[in-house]
Amino acid sequence: MFQHLQMCNCQGSTCAAPAAIRKGNVAFSFWHTGCVYRVMIVSYLGTKGGTGTTTLAVNGAADIRRLTNKPTAIVDLRTGPGDVALFLGLRPRYTVLHAIDQLAWMDHGALFKYLGHHECGLHVLAAGDEFSRPAPRDVEAIEQILRSLNALYDFVIVDVGNSLNACGAMALQLSEMVMLVANPDVPCLRNLQRLIDAVRLTGVSGERLKIVLNRASEFGVLSTAQIERVLGLAIDFSVNSDYRTVASAVNSGVPVSALRAPAELHHQLDAIARAICGLPDSGVVTLDHDPATAIRHQL
Ligand SMILES: Nc1ncnc2c1ncn2[C@@H]1O[C@H](COP(=O)(O)OP(=O)(O)OP(=O)(O)O)[C@@H](O)[C@H]1O
Ligand SMILES: [Mg+2]
Repeated sequence: MFQHLQMCNCQGSTCAAPAAIRKGNVAFSFWHTGCVYRVMIVSYLGTKGGTGTTTLAVNGAADIRRLTNKPTAIVDLRTGPGDVALFLGLRPRYTVLHAIDQLAWMDHGALFKYLGHHECGLHVLAAGDEFSRPAPRDVEAIEQILRSLNALYDFVIVDVGNSLNACGAMALQLSEMVMLVANPDVPCLRNLQRLIDAVRLTGVSGERLKIVLNRASEFGVLSTAQIERVLGLAIDFSVNSDYRTVASAVNSGVPVSALRAPAELHHQLDAIARAICGLPDSGVVTLDHDPATAIRHQL
């Protein structure tokens, strides 16, 4: 047994105990009963390619780490080469495929070795280079990896990509929260409706599902109210369109929070992370959706 549960004596948010420590050959996993944060897995699934799933997963993970200072990892589960490590400017030596292929021989506590480290404190299990993996035969290993990371880290964020394959479905089943990322256009919204049904069929209950509308502020697109009316569903989070800021974060290999981002974009991303951790809203006054403001930010 690689892991022993040990209760931390924390009385609330001041707890600094890591999710796990190693003593000799034994890993002790803390059970943070008194902490305000719950140890959890959160998955991001795109309703179509290019909706901004990786952008939101990376920024969500980095913001959770910034807000809680708790051990936080992000896993790139996209089939084929993924972008998570690239978005953070990392070239990790190991990938999720190394972890899958060596899982049988390793102490699960040694999974730490397979994760790259970003300067913001986030640990990253990058995607491999093989176009057809993780494959359905890797499901069991993915389950073990996610369960082990869940014992080692307080927060495990998973970029599932935009297809609901067997490995992705496993990640969703293990997740306390599933973020469905959509854009405000008709093909995306049609896929969203279908994807919600498919995700529910994997066993994810409705209250675990959250809908994130990315690029919500783009000109000429459907409004949030129109979308909610058509879908008969509430949009849980909206994120403005701001290519300049998002692209400059990627080009610098840092999360948006490390840049001087427009206040509204920063607040929208921050609000998603706070909702995941169960923290109150920062109370930052949001700017209005004045198109002139949006244009000014592009200049
Ligand atoms: N809120 C936003 N405003 C402007 N551009 C954005 C926003 N979110 C993401 N983008 C841009 O959209 C493009 C796709 O983003 P991203 O790679 O995160 O999407 P994805 O859904 O993960 O794509 P893939 O299906 O290839 O994995 C990137 O160029 C990114 O910079
Ligand atoms: Mg992606």
